[in-house]
Parts: sequence; C-alpha cells; structure tokens
Amino acid sequence: MRVTVLDHPLVAHKLTVLRDKDTTSPVFRLLVEELVTLLAYEATRQVRVEPVEIETPVTRTTGVGLSKPRPLVVPILRAGLGMLEGMTRLVPTAEVGFLGMARNEDTLDIITYAERLPDDLTGRQVFVLDPMLATGGTLREAIKFLYRRGAEQITCICLLAAPEGLAALEEELGDSEVSIVLAARDERLNEKSYIVPGLGDAGDRLYGVV
Ligand code: URA
Repeated sequence: MRVTVLDHPLVAHKLTVLRDKDTTSPVFRLLVEELVTLLAYEATRQVRVEPVEIETPVTRTTGVGLSKPRPLVVPILRAGLGMLEGMTRLVPTAEVGFLGMARNEDTLDIITYAERLPDDLTGRQVFVLDPMLATGGTLREAIKFLYRRGAEQITCICLLAAPEGLAALEEELGDSEVSIVLAARDERLNEKSYIVPGLGDAGDRLYGVV
C-alpha cells in the first residue's frame, strides 16, 4: 500500500477553508471539487496510455491517448458523490460506477446498500472516491469488493485520513498495490470516530443533514 499526501500551498489553503465550520455548503461543494481535481492530477500519474498518431497543423507526430478499457471512477455514496465532478473534470472519458456504503454508527459495521458496477473488472484501473478515511472500514470493504470483481490497480482519493484508519488498512492490505492519495493526514480519531481536527461530517456539510 502506498500513501501520498499532497504537499502544495493551494491544497493547504483550500483545505483550511473547507475545515472552517462557518464555510457554507455551496462553497464547501466547490472547494471539494477543486481539491479533488488537484488530487486527481497526482492520483492519475500511473493511468495507462498508449501511443497515438496525430497531425498538427505543421507535421505528423506521436502523442498519447488513454488506453482501453477506460479508467473506472467509483464514488462511495453519499459523500464521495461530491468528489465526482472534480474527478471527471480531469478525466472526462472515465466510466463511472457507484457503491453505496454506510457505517452503522452504533456497531461501526459497514453495510453495502447500493451497487452499480460492471460485473467483470478484470485488469481495470479503478479510482475510488471517499472524502474521509476515518476507521478505514468503508474503504477496506470497497477495496475488497473491487478486487473480488477482478480490479487490477486501485487508487483511492481521500481528502483527509486518520492515522488509525491508515494503520488498519496497512495491516489488511499492506501487501497489495493499493495507492491512497490525500490532501492531509490528520492527528487522530475522537471517541465517535470523527477525524480530528477534521472537517466534521463530509456528507452533511456537502448536502445538509438528512
Ligand atoms: N466521516 C466523516 O464525514 N467525517 C469524519 O470525521 C469521519 C467519518
């Protein structure tokens, strides 16, 4: 497992505004999209390309195009949906599948309540979107699910991660090729498994409490 924390002043600035409890939902949504586009630039470093011949106004030359099958982007509902626009802005031809997963706040168990993905992901490059890597439970279940379907290379894009969640994932998936790209590694989890200092409940801040 490889963890990359993006070290960039614009990322730090946007994240600071995102963390602020007085930032409104519309601004929060916009900042999440912008941050994800910056993270996606780093996360797609290994995206598969192949040579393509083109003609410029001056001459013929060889460039690159995205290889088939296209990359698959999987936002984890609900909060991951707020990251989708920022990702597809950078990779507009990506396919998009959906995984609905939620944590039972009493037992902390993860339930899968929705799934819309190709049955066969053999050889696919998959980009999972989930803003908050807290205990790591949701991401672990999502990654296992995608591997069972045959996914070859999985990259997770998260805004924040807690050291506890990263350690739990490392223990279970340490030997795998999974990559995790983050805007920041925070201090810890609190007693309710919220990330500290964090930004609160990402889904609620994106969409309002339901
Ligand atoms: N999910 C969130 O939205 N926020 C946290 O701090 C932890 C999990």
